[in-house]
Amino acid sequence: MQEQLSNRINNLATSQTLAMAAKARELRAEGKDIIGLSLGEPDFNTPDFIKDAAIKAINDNYNSYTPVDGYVELKDAIINKFKRDNNLTYDHSQIVVSTGAKQSLANVAMVLLNPGDEVLLPCPYWVSYAEIVKLAEGVPVEVPTSVETDFKMTPEQLEAAITPKTKMIWYSSPCNPSGMVYSKQELRGLADVLKKYPDIIIVSDEIYEHINFVGGHASMAQFEDMYDRVVTVNGVSKAFAMTGWRIGYIGAPSWIARATNKMQGQITSGANCIAQRAVITALEAPVSKISYMVDTFKKRRKLIIDLLNNIEGFVTTEPEGAFYVFPNISHFFGKTIKGHKIENATDFSMFLLEEALVATVTGDAFGNPDCIRISYAASEDQIEEALKRIKSFLTEA
Ligand SMILES: Cc1ncc(COP(=O)(O)O)c(C=O)c1O
Repeated sequence: MQEQLSNRINNLATSQTLAMAAKARELRAEGKDIIGLSLGEPDFNTPDFIKDAAIKAINDNYNSYTPVDGYVELKDAIINKFKRDNNLTYDHSQIVVSTGAKQSLANVAMVLLNPGDEVLLPCPYWVSYAEIVKLAEGVPVEVPTSVETDFKMTPEQLEAAITPKTKMIWYSSPCNPSGMVYSKQELRGLADVLKKYPDIIIVSDEIYEHINFVGGHASMAQFEDMYDRVVTVNGVSKAFAMTGWRIGYIGAPSWIARATNKMQGQITSGANCIAQRAVITALEAPVSKISYMVDTFKKRRKLIIDLLNNIEGFVTTEPEGAFYVFPNISHFFGKTIKGHKIENATDFSMFLLEEALVATVTGDAFGNPDCIRISYAASEDQIEEALKRIKSFLTEA
């Protein structure tokens, strides 16, 4: 039979972070010693106190279908977390737990977008935003920012990008991939523009909230005049080293939460029972219980920035959060290095993989073709060795 795939799937790009990981795996299978700095996941184990809660949940026979929008006790823990960490007040009708923040985002797109609705994506943005928007028949609109402004969107850039079709704006702070963090004042500047366009909905992805080296995490929903139009997305994958447990959640206006609940009820139903019980324990714990991971990321950040600043041709901002650096490497465009013609960031990233045996991700995947993303969710030894290899391959050229 001939393949008869839908336009929907044919028009969807393959995740370039996963594609890079697959290529790295292939080279490893050939016996090559690849250092992986491409993936967006902490290299820590889930903390024991969370694992113990999961084991207890299994023994307590948590095995049935869960409420579509999450266990009430988990919603309580999320409500308390929002109050404790973000000074945001939500009630049960405003919280929906999903199978990862990725599903939370997909739900929001599916319930809010009509064909042709535009979604503003300040660049660089997380790789899946544009594809999720396209799946929901929306139109991703890239708003370019640059290394010179620390990859932050200015109020002027925001205003210039708004059209009568703008339905939403999506951003992450701390940002994957740039690591930038919007301050409260910067968010206020954006809010002042958005105030003039009361129908635009804001999706504030705060999944890297706790991996913040400058302190002072700010949420768009904290502004009273924005609260009714903000979907605050969060989850446990990053700060709690729980990527595989697949729990994310939103705090949102009830009408949006209700709709995502309805959507999820027809697709996946409630998230995994054991994972939900474990996340109750994770969120109820003081944040200090996970700060050892943040401290480690902070040390590695310094290491990688120092090493990158030592390589000519890399222009790097100091990331304020998450665990990525996003250097501009356009200096190398047009050059031929060890027989590889470097025309763009994809060529450069592929060159690093094939020659230096270091896996990174091209900035194209994040809407910025002049940069590459390097994850420092790796040991100091691996970071040192990777940067040594990169430097020697570029310098010997
Ligand atoms: C900015 C951002 N949002 C959301 C997610 C998805 O997280 P989850 O594992 O909860 O689906 C990621 C994961 O890489 C991310 O980087």
